[in-house]
Amino acid sequence: MEIRATHTPLLEWTGDSLAIGLFEDSGELSGDLATLDEKFAGSIKELIAEEEFKGKQGSSIVTRVGTNSPVRKVILVGLGKPEDLKLDTLRRAAAAVARLAKKQKSKTLGISLPIWNNDAAKTALALAEGVQLALYEDNRFKSEPEDKGPLVEQVDLLGLGGQEAAITHANQICSGVILARQLVAAPANSVTPITMAQTAAEIASEYGLQLEILEQQDCEKLGMGAFLGVAQASELPPKFIHLTYKPQGTPKRKLAIVGKGLTFDSGGLNIKGAGSGIENMKMDMGGAAATLGAAKVIGQLKPDVEVHFISAVTENMISGRAMHPGDILKASNGKTIEVNNTDAEGRLTLADALVFTDKLGVEAIVDLATLTGACVIALGDEIAGLFSPDDALASQLEKAGEAAGEKIWRLPMEEKYFEGLKSGIADMKNTGPRAGGSITAALFLKQFVKDTPAWAHLDVAGPVWADKENGYNSPGATGFGVRTLVNWVLSDA
Ligand code: BES
Ligand code: MG
Ligand code: ZN
Repeated sequence: MEIRATHTPLLEWTGDSLAIGLFEDSGELSGDLATLDEKFAGSIKELIAEEEFKGKQGSSIVTRVGTNSPVRKVILVGLGKPEDLKLDTLRRAAAAVARLAKKQKSKTLGISLPIWNNDAAKTALALAEGVQLALYEDNRFKSEPEDKGPLVEQVDLLGLGGQEAAITHANQICSGVILARQLVAAPANSVTPITMAQTAAEIASEYGLQLEILEQQDCEKLGMGAFLGVAQASELPPKFIHLTYKPQGTPKRKLAIVGKGLTFDSGGLNIKGAGSGIENMKMDMGGAAATLGAAKVIGQLKPDVEVHFISAVTENMISGRAMHPGDILKASNGKTIEVNNTDAEGRLTLADALVFTDKLGVEAIVDLATLTGACVIALGDEIAGLFSPDDALASQLEKAGEAAGEKIWRLPMEEKYFEGLKSGIADMKNTGPRAGGSITAALFLKQFVKDTPAWAHLDVAGPVWADKENGYNSPGATGFGVRTLVNWVLSDA
């Protein structure tokens, strides 16, 4: 599929489907749209009346226009109230029309939507993202694709001529989001710690990043007892991935991104029971997937910022070698942890990943982890929890998420709740009481960051996976986090 920015006026565009955005209650057709309606013998007005189309955000309708018309179908997409127009509304509108065009078997699609905030570049970027992310289909594990209909081959963004660079940018971003989706959607017998390390190696060689893989023995030498405790029951070797992007010249900033990388989480001996969603715990590397997805994008965009991408990758399995509930592990900063629940494994792997990252001399660390079911209970499955002792970093991430259309909501790091992690025998336990479970998880992680000026944790257990179609996300892996991370790295904070 090719997306083009074009100067072609609405009235002159020819092709299979022409999509036009309409604000809520915009009354009589006016301007170009009125002229277009005349050109199509009143069929747009008729469609609006017949379908009682009000322009509500998320609504869309389609009609066929005359047989000899230079446009076969007209799609109208609702944009809600003009004063409420957000960039993500346009991204979603583009996604909706792309899906409709595909359903209508259109090979060419013209999209005419308003420009957001007088910013043609951001608008073109958002539209191109919406189209590509909505049309992406994962047929890797089907012997034959289910949907054999024609593909949308060409999409023209009308009124956005000259925005070629924004479209290239969108293509690069989507390549990272789609990589993250593919990693998360692939089952645990396909994506393993070994293949995650291979994916990192591919990114390194394709885009010129530095790669360091710590094998089990290397992790032992560094005293990563928490990570290795989780890894010890698996038949597969753990892999500690460290990718580095270094710009030419002196970097403006030095940052690090850390992702939880459990290619499968059985729960360990505190095995996940019925209703726990164990059959979908291949998605427990969603943080690592976003980290690698972001590395792929940053490797292409080449900003003036040094970025480290880190993930301690393993499976949480059971065997005769498995951690016993009650075992005491020692992390690489010397802290001892009583494992009162083997299913709280993500924070154990992150503990050593954070200690490692804390020594890199970066200004800020952001970690992403499918860490707790409690966060999904608190915020539902579309919103990530944000935890940070640093207001400035928290607000940078909130802005980055807003621009990406990825929802994040800050939750408190209530220090008093750390009492729930007090252990009688070790420095701390890995699990506190059920209440406030995502807060105690964040407080646990905080113990492993000491020297880095700013740190934030995103609990992405909900939004890395979608059960239903939602805007540009189809059911399955969403690639959540990649676009927020890229925005954050690119911001001049
Ligand atoms: N990977 C899970 C968290 C999770 C739950 C991710 C649902 C995605 C969807 C994590 O390792 C886990 O098992 N957490 C436990 C922690 C508890 C034992 C303190 C949980 O949330 O139940
Ligand atoms: Mg678990
Ligand atoms: Zn887990």
